[in-house]
Amino acid sequence: MTTAMSIGYFGTQSGRQRQRLCHMIRELQPRRYVDLTAGGASIPCSVNQEIGPIGVNDICGYAHLAHKALFATPTIPSNVNFKEMIVEGEQCKPVNGYMTRMVNIAPNKAAGSVIPVDIARHIDGLVVGLNHHGCHLAQVAIGKALMNLCTFRGMMWCGTSTDPDHKYVRDFTWDFIAEKIEKEFLRLRQWHHYRPENIATCLDADDFLKDYDASGDVVYADPAWPWIQGQGEAKKEQDNPYYFVVNVLSELIGCPSAPFQLWTQDSPILQTIEEWARVALEHGAKVFILSTQSSNHPPVELVQQHMQERFELGVESVAGLRGTGGGKWHDYFFTCRLQSVMV
Ligand SMILES: C[S@@+](CC[C@H](N)C(=O)[O-])C[C@H]1O[C@@H](n2cnc3c(N)ncnc32)[C@H](O)[C@@H]1O
Repeated sequence: MTTAMSIGYFGTQSGRQRQRLCHMIRELQPRRYVDLTAGGASIPCSVNQEIGPIGVNDICGYAHLAHKALFATPTIPSNVNFKEMIVEGEQCKPVNGYMTRMVNIAPNKAAGSVIPVDIARHIDGLVVGLNHHGCHLAQVAIGKALMNLCTFRGMMWCGTSTDPDHKYVRDFTWDFIAEKIEKEFLRLRQWHHYRPENIATCLDADDFLKDYDASGDVVYADPAWPWIQGQGEAKKEQDNPYYFVVNVLSELIGCPSAPFQLWTQDSPILQTIEEWARVALEHGAKVFILSTQSSNHPPVELVQQHMQERFELGVESVAGLRGTGGGKWHDYFFTCRLQSVMV
């Protein structure tokens, strides 16, 4: 098994889950493995390297840009001397963009816990330059570096840095940030593995499935479930752990996500996953696999009951930790097939 890919994504599935799922996929011998909500894409990355073609979809612009650059673009500009040509060169003229606007927002400024404005202008300039030169993986590297250095698990900005030499993000220098971005770019590049049959899309899963011929595929979803918090909580979209990456980070790196409502506890979640499974199977998928864990809403038992009343259901449970969450949860894979009609 290859090293797990990481784009620093909250909720990335653990090695144990990846192994179990890759084993299931290998046995099923699909034409293509399609991940409807691919996020950090560690499973598609392993399947793509070890088993066969993949389809990677995600509504999040940051995740999509990584998927497109790594799996569905034949080459990554490898002759780019990152430091000379982009970081120090003409292509990186500081401009006022999303990051600059954000650090200039009064409450952020007053808190004194944001990146200095001149560095924010450099980052915005770099995003424009890289986008212009089609060096999308380096745009992702900007997001990954900032997520690692100055967010709490990729869910919100943090004034205290994770770097031992720069305790506060307000002390960052441009050279320091540029070096981190370059390192992330070189790391990400290792996972580039292009296959012409791969596809990468940035759609709501509903829209993806509508027009997709899934004949012979395994279709998988590990959706952005809201957490199972107490009554009355997680009612706002901002409470969803993917809010930051979908709405803030994607825009910052120059690949904004389409307007979209993340799930809250009040969303029609069971109806939506039922619809995803039904459409995938009616469009020819061999099996639809759904992933959830004991910390998610709706509770696992409800999900299981809902799906087994409508599909032929198999259940696999994996105990373990998620990559970035830190907690101990049980993970479940539900395999759904259309019920056979009794004559
Ligand atoms: C739990 S994460 C997936 C994590 C992934 N399995 C991994 O190992 O990194 C859920 C993903 O669903 C995406 N998402 C949420 N709602 C979506 C929708 N309706 N259509 C497509 N993607 C969606 C989010 O952007 C997020 O990346």
